[in-house]
Amino acid sequence: MYKINTNYQKLPGSYLFSTIAKKVNAYTAAHPDKQIIRLGIGDVTQPIAPAIIEAMHKAVDEMGRAETFHGYAPDLGYEFLRSAIVEHDYKTRGCDIAADEIFVSDGAKSDSANIQELFAQDNRIAVCDPVYPVYVDSNVMAGRTGTYDPATEMWSDVIYMPCTMENGFVPQLPKETPDLIYLCLPNNPTGTTITKDQLQTWVDYANRVGAVIIYDAAYEAYISEQDVAHSIYECEGAKTCAIELKSFSKNAGFTGVRLGYAVVPKELKCGDVSLHDMWARRHGTKFNGAPYIVQRAGEAVYSEAGRAQLKEQVAYYMENAGAIKNGLKEAGYTVFGGVNAPYIWLKTPENMTSWDFFDYLLENANVVGTPGAGFGPSGEGYFRLTAFGSRENTLAALARIRKL
Ligand SMILES: Cc1ncc(COP(=O)(O)O)c(C=O)c1O
Repeated sequence: MYKINTNYQKLPGSYLFSTIAKKVNAYTAAHPDKQIIRLGIGDVTQPIAPAIIEAMHKAVDEMGRAETFHGYAPDLGYEFLRSAIVEHDYKTRGCDIAADEIFVSDGAKSDSANIQELFAQDNRIAVCDPVYPVYVDSNVMAGRTGTYDPATEMWSDVIYMPCTMENGFVPQLPKETPDLIYLCLPNNPTGTTITKDQLQTWVDYANRVGAVIIYDAAYEAYISEQDVAHSIYECEGAKTCAIELKSFSKNAGFTGVRLGYAVVPKELKCGDVSLHDMWARRHGTKFNGAPYIVQRAGEAVYSEAGRAQLKEQVAYYMENAGAIKNGLKEAGYTVFGGVNAPYIWLKTPENMTSWDFFDYLLENANVVGTPGAGFGPSGEGYFRLTAFGSRENTLAALARIRKL
């Protein structure tokens, strides 16, 4: 008789956004006349930029002719895309990353869930609290997190780094020494970030204690402040301690197109063993490449026209962020984020729990947000709204919330 991976049974409840979808579906079934505005899940709403659509059309046509048809992509991704990434995401920022240190993937969710496979089961992970749920859940599935305490909503073997109003949402170096440190900056869900100097502290710490930083930079395109690093490799010494994950979902609207990449520097070694070689081996065995059409779309993200169009798209969402942040502030809410990230993190009014506030907003304003508690115990008492809605929906949602 076969046995299952019982680690899956340790996972509490369903994935956060499935729970939210169920609640919203139940509400709409009971109130079919209500117009719900969704500012919950961090999905984009603006269409793919024209320069990218043009590149995709061209690639589709190429696939229809024998002389330009493309089958399996190279393991690490096409050279044209990896070179564009190196040129625009790294060289311009003074980061010495080579094209063969880039691993093209289908997005940062799978990379952030899969990367833990490179590490031993008894490694200790450290995560910010609140946190993007995939980091912890993927380690639960791998049996690395110990036991779950429903009372504290914490795992016995996970090191939590609370990010709250009290510490300005800046993770502090943990008291216990971790082996793997997950950092998502700018941060989902708090919408806040740290300065390059503060990030350097983490790099120095990781090198000192022999830890690896998994650096999720999915929201890098939204950075507006000068003293914030766009890549962890802007910090000295990061190539010996950090893996960087990037996504095309939020900067280019590829949530449905699917493209991302991981940077695993060749200098990142555990003794003599190269993590770059391990990831190359894993990629070669378990992944068969992002589609040619999508990689051409990714290349167009870096074209002159693509960059100009995406700058406008990012600005559009950040204007939404500004409108939500200022509007809620005027209405008396305590709000954070929205400056270097498209998320607004607000303190729930009158000490409501974050799920109570979720229900309250859904029922009274027909607006869907995300309860902070869904991202970890320190998210309790907070609530996330995304700036990824259309302008019309964003302003309508804001007006409804202000009327409460
Ligand atoms: C922090 C973070 N990492 C990764 C992802 C997923 O990115 P992708 O669409 O590239 O899988 C998200 C999506 O919301 C995210 O918030």
